[in-house]
Amino acid sequence: MQNYFTKKVNFYGDTNPKNLVSEYGSPLYVYNEKILRQRCRDMADFIPYSNYKASYSTKANSNLELLKIIREEGLHADAMSPGEIHLLLAAGFRPEQIFYIGNNVSVEEMMFAVNKGITMSVDSLSQLRTFGQFNPGGNVAVRINPGFGIGHHDKVVTGGKDTKFGINDDCIPEIKAWIKEFNLNLIGINQHIGSLFMEGDTYIQSVKVILQIAEQFEGLRFIDMGGGFGIPYQKQDNEAPLELKSFGEQLAILLSAWAERNNPDIMFMSEPGRYIVAESGVLLGTVHAQKENSGVNYVGTDLGFNVLVRPVMYDAWHDIEVYPIDKEYAYSSEKRVTIVGNICESGDAIANNRKLPALSIGDIIGVVDAGAYGYSMSSNYNNRLRPAEVLIQRDGSHRLIRRRDTLDDLLQNFCTDKG
Ligand code: LLP
Repeated sequence: MQNYFTKKVNFYGDTNPKNLVSEYGSPLYVYNEKILRQRCRDMADFIPYSNYKASYSTKANSNLELLKIIREEGLHADAMSPGEIHLLLAAGFRPEQIFYIGNNVSVEEMMFAVNKGITMSVDSLSQLRTFGQFNPGGNVAVRINPGFGIGHHDKVVTGGKDTKFGINDDCIPEIKAWIKEFNLNLIGINQHIGSLFMEGDTYIQSVKVILQIAEQFEGLRFIDMGGGFGIPYQKQDNEAPLELKSFGEQLAILLSAWAERNNPDIMFMSEPGRYIVAESGVLLGTVHAQKENSGVNYVGTDLGFNVLVRPVMYDAWHDIEVYPIDKEYAYSSEKRVTIVGNICESGDAIANNRKLPALSIGDIIGVVDAGAYGYSMSSNYNNRLRPAEVLIQRDGSHRLIRRRDTLDDLLQNFCTDKG
């Protein structure tokens, strides 16, 4: 059913897509604070075990105002870059609440974290050695590759043979050798097997592996099991959400047994990104053109892949809602359409072959579940302006949380030769 999702959760609070677009322009990212807070709480309570902490994966969405909310909800955070660390600190996270998960980073980037008192993980023997050379005696974590992975697309499977991530378990003697050589303290091990699973089995299997590996190290303070928790992108087809309760309970049994046997003080962490933010975001766009080309009905919008790249990059599905301007929904006139953007590439489609009520120029489209890997992967390709972001607050009111790029923003990094 059309608009099923936003209606059911009163996504837009006191306002509606039409008013939002007329006030802030199109395209526009809109976030719902209530949903965001609820998802934070789901994850904070996910594993019924006292020494468990959810650490939000900043890459999914790094809007400063959303980070502040996530921090208020008591989550910690992981960062992949100095930029993400910079934003997390600006949002009020303390260094000890941030975990820097480096992947092929420079010495300067390592030192950026170390000098701020942030624990970092290295994900190759060569980076472990570099870290040791520059920070002998320091605390460090290593990222393990458990030997298998999972994900909604090959590009986001991060465990197993075909990925660049982590250190395989057959390298444990070498990890120990470098730790000894540089007198490092190995305080944590971490993994992340991939992004988006809708059942917990593979994650649980991978946790069993990392727990076994953890037994081979002494003095660990934490074990980070990674993220990847999926959300139901096909809501209009009643896709079920990830069942967290029994999943978390199974993990609690494993973790508490491990802790009892090995180290009762150890902290266990997860790294959810998508789960926290995806469902709190809808991307609004506007219909600017229509055409039929060789039997395909194209709806031309301002939702180019510079704004949301997931459909083009991973063939990802997002439910589409339509908000007709000045008319009622006409389900009788539904037809199959392909929704395309305004970028100069033929792959620039946000939804292919969807059955939607007849759309007219000026109508607004909502791309559901766009809160994760939406704005954070957006760009200025074709010198398009990145959209504004608006928050629907708990009391239903709304406020701008990031302004739209301006044309002058496109000029600001150039170094003009004045000679
Ligand atoms: N931890 C690490 C080390 C990661 O690399 C990631 C995601 C996460 C945690 C969080 O994963 P999540 O819970 O969000 O699945 N752009 C893709 C997803 C890429 C995920 C990259 N790493 C997409 O739009 O589907």
